[in-house]
Amino acid sequence: MKYDAQDCKLVSKKQLTPTIYDFRLYNPQLAAIAQPGQFVQVLVPGKTLRRPISVCDVEGDVIRLVFEVRGEGTELLSHTKTDESINIIAPLGKGFTLDPKEKTIFIGGGIGVPPMLYSARQCGQNAVVINGFRNKDAVILSEDFEKAAGRLIITTDDGSYGIHGFVTEPLKELIAEADKVCACGPMPMLKNIAKIAKEHSVPCQVSLEQRMACGVGACLGCAVPVKDGGRIIYQHVCKDGPVFDSEAVAWNGERPLPSTGSQLPVMKEAFNC
Ligand SMILES: Cc1cc2nc3c(=O)[nH]c(=O)nc-3n(C[C@H](O)[C@H](O)[C@H](O)COP(=O)(O)OP(=O)(O)OC[C@H]3O[C@@H](n4cnc5c(N)ncnc54)[C@H](O)[C@@H]3O)c2cc1C
Ligand code: FES
Repeated sequence: MKYDAQDCKLVSKKQLTPTIYDFRLYNPQLAAIAQPGQFVQVLVPGKTLRRPISVCDVEGDVIRLVFEVRGEGTELLSHTKTDESINIIAPLGKGFTLDPKEKTIFIGGGIGVPPMLYSARQCGQNAVVINGFRNKDAVILSEDFEKAAGRLIITTDDGSYGIHGFVTEPLKELIAEADKVCACGPMPMLKNIAKIAKEHSVPCQVSLEQRMACGVGACLGCAVPVKDGGRIIYQHVCKDGPVFDSEAVAWNGERPLPSTGSQLPVMKEAFNC
């Protein structure tokens, strides 16, 4: 899909928790084509590398980004004022493949929750959402998910809100009735979800997070090993993902063979060099 650098006005800014911000950006062109699970590369003044942030939701002509302050870049971004412009490159990556008619379980863990909102909205009443957080204070976007999906289940690690435990517990109870599972969050969570989906023969897509530089497939910044038939190859999270079929992910850290003559064409293809 064609991507573009564009300035967009920050039309609203909310602080959801002491470290999480909810930005609404006016951008009719992007709003018309953004797919659930895709991301944007945000330019932070004073920083050369852009920061990848997922599309959380699309509301008419407005794109919503929800991000956590983790380091200097997101801290600077959080200081942007309403009516100021933010430069983004978008839309980027391959998002979730969804069918509104399918009963789909959407699972978000921590800051992996925001991209599941626009994704779950595509399936409406057929969407069951399981969102997992550390504790009650970390819970975000519940009202939005309640409106967008058929059912919302919240889990917290310490039991201070919703079900006590991990997202995988409700998943085990509900998966028998699901056509598909889509998930975004920490790798150990994704690995366990993929295992449960495989045991029940339910197709599963996972959104991977990887440190990024260019965000458009032009550097080696975000390479991950994936299964391709009987071999392991590298693919780019930014261009080939961030959403991958869970069966393709090399969950046990398998790596491609060292670059022998036979592996070289594969590496060349993966890295566009
Ligand atoms: C496809 C994708 C979607 C994402 N969506 C969201 C989202 O919706 N909300 C949200 O809060 N966070 C999201 N992240 C994580 C977010 O990009 C990082 O938290 C952010 O880049 C950290 O930047 P920083 O300057 O604050 O931190 P620093 O650690 O100072 O960043 C230094 C450099 O490392 C890169 N970097 C650091 N951590 C990450 C990371 N986890 N992923 C990618 N690059 C990183 C930065 O872009 C920067 O170039 C997403 C990451 C990816 C890959
Ligand atoms: S970040 Fe450069 S190839 Fe993905």
